[in-house]
Amino acid sequence: MKQFRKLAVLVLSLFFGAIGGLNAQKTFTADLSKPGSMIQPTMWGIFFEDINFAADGGIYAEMVKNRSFGFYKPLMGWETVKQQNAVGDVQLMNFGTGENNNRYIRITNQTPGTRFGLRNEGFRGMGIKKGEQYNIRMKAKALSKEPVHVTCELLDSSKNVIGSVSLNITSSDWAFYEASVVSNLTTPKGSLNVLIDGAGDANFSFISMFPENTWKNRKYGFRADLVQMLADLKPGFIRFPGGCIVEGHELSTRYQWKKTVGEPEDRKVQINRWNQEFSWRSAPDYFQSFGMGFFEYFLLAEDIGAEPVPILNCGMACQYNTGELVPLDKLDPYTQDALDLIEFANGDVSTQWGKLRKEMGHPEPFHLKFLGVGNEQWGSQYVERFLVMSKIIQEKYPEIKLISGSGPSPSGDKFDYLWGKMGEMNADLVDEHYYMSPGWFLANARRYDTYDRKGPAVFAGEYAAHDKEGNYPSSRNNWRAALSEAAFMTGLERNADIVHLSSYAPLFANINAWQWNPDLIWFNNLEVMATPNYYVQKMFSTHKGTRVVPVTLNKEAVAGQDSLYASASFDEPT
Ligand code: AHR
Repeated sequence: MKQFRKLAVLVLSLFFGAIGGLNAQKTFTADLSKPGSMIQPTMWGIFFEDINFAADGGIYAEMVKNRSFGFYKPLMGWETVKQQNAVGDVQLMNFGTGENNNRYIRITNQTPGTRFGLRNEGFRGMGIKKGEQYNIRMKAKALSKEPVHVTCELLDSSKNVIGSVSLNITSSDWAFYEASVVSNLTTPKGSLNVLIDGAGDANFSFISMFPENTWKNRKYGFRADLVQMLADLKPGFIRFPGGCIVEGHELSTRYQWKKTVGEPEDRKVQINRWNQEFSWRSAPDYFQSFGMGFFEYFLLAEDIGAEPVPILNCGMACQYNTGELVPLDKLDPYTQDALDLIEFANGDVSTQWGKLRKEMGHPEPFHLKFLGVGNEQWGSQYVERFLVMSKIIQEKYPEIKLISGSGPSPSGDKFDYLWGKMGEMNADLVDEHYYMSPGWFLANARRYDTYDRKGPAVFAGEYAAHDKEGNYPSSRNNWRAALSEAAFMTGLERNADIVHLSSYAPLFANINAWQWNPDLIWFNNLEVMATPNYYVQKMFSTHKGTRVVPVTLNKEAVAGQDSLYASASFDEPT
């Protein structure tokens, strides 16, 4: 503290050209003797949504696409393979007994001395690395009297075999079988053959392959390189599972967290709402296996030291799509989902949902503190539903901070109406979304200077500077966008008394399978690439103080004078 007082007023001189005139000198004053408001530990966070193949085909390291044949076209991603003139057959079967994933396939190879089966193409190919181990797991059942011999082959982009392993399906009951194979080559567009070797007949309901090398070496876990990018941001929170994915195109395809927990192979496959959303980037093979489900999200949050911030559906489908509504007197299941989620995250292991958490390997609570009710909803229909749900949730769990929405735009009638209503309801936090031009971000560096300090706090839950209006393919993660976000973020930090959480959106994009642009982090099946926008986020989040330090230029906040923007913070404990 002594040293801090000595530095009470820090004067920063900058020479710059451009607008201020050649070599004009500007003097900033950072007054450390008058520390401003507290900065919440959640100030800089991340927003995860399964868009752009961020989960399946992204962070979730599963390499087999359509592993339980649950896509609309049940053999999408798979093709028949015959070796040595094999004669065989693939039949699509249905359990007929109401399983979550109700399909399986029967593969019959009629010709001894040949191989017959299927090839999986992966998510726009499989990224396979030389010397790395890949773990294959399948649920199968032998139909022949003798054990069914299965050979699995890793293939490069020219379909040359770069690794091979065999296993025997021995039981006439459904059982899991595992085998590992090491690749002798690196390929960005590999694939996997699963072949019945010799005459044989077997059923398969699930065929999966993961790299051995995953984040924290968790079996069937996440891509280590992608999670590392998140960990490096030291995010204060992670919001999940989105976005519009929470809402669904219609209510039947909304995100339902209870369907994403328990054994991964039993989680019911569902179409991803980004499958057909944009005609210019349609993705007919985009489904959700939910291998990355709510348990995995909580675990990820814990791993990277981020507060978990789940967002749940409030009885409304996406208003850009069907806008389906659940009648107010039928909202109970939605509210119950919220109550049960809090129990799943925080409840004692003797409770129903706390017990499931324990069974899934995490008896300790996840310490959930925030919960979003609805995503980008608008209108009185949202207010009515938020009111019903929030009242019940808050009665039972007053310690949980609820997040409400303010619609899809950062201003206008919908926005003003919702902010007014949320103020009246004394909401904890209001989520704002802005995908706007770089110019908007610069002009809005003072946005929060004038917000009502007695009203709800702000969650700047989704933002990104779009060089083109809307998420057009031609938008780019360029320096202009990144710098304008940085300028804007100085305003978030300066107003940390009212802005408690913020996150760029979307987080991830698979360069071969994206729908939305720009995005914070891009990847293919082998590599990951950070954008300028990522480094802006990182600059703020890894230099996060605990108190705001006022920075002035001629006694005014530095928010656009001569194109300059500045903010400062200091870290009290250190
Ligand atoms: O981040 C992409 C989408 O933008 C989100 O799903 C939605 O909330 C917003 O419209």
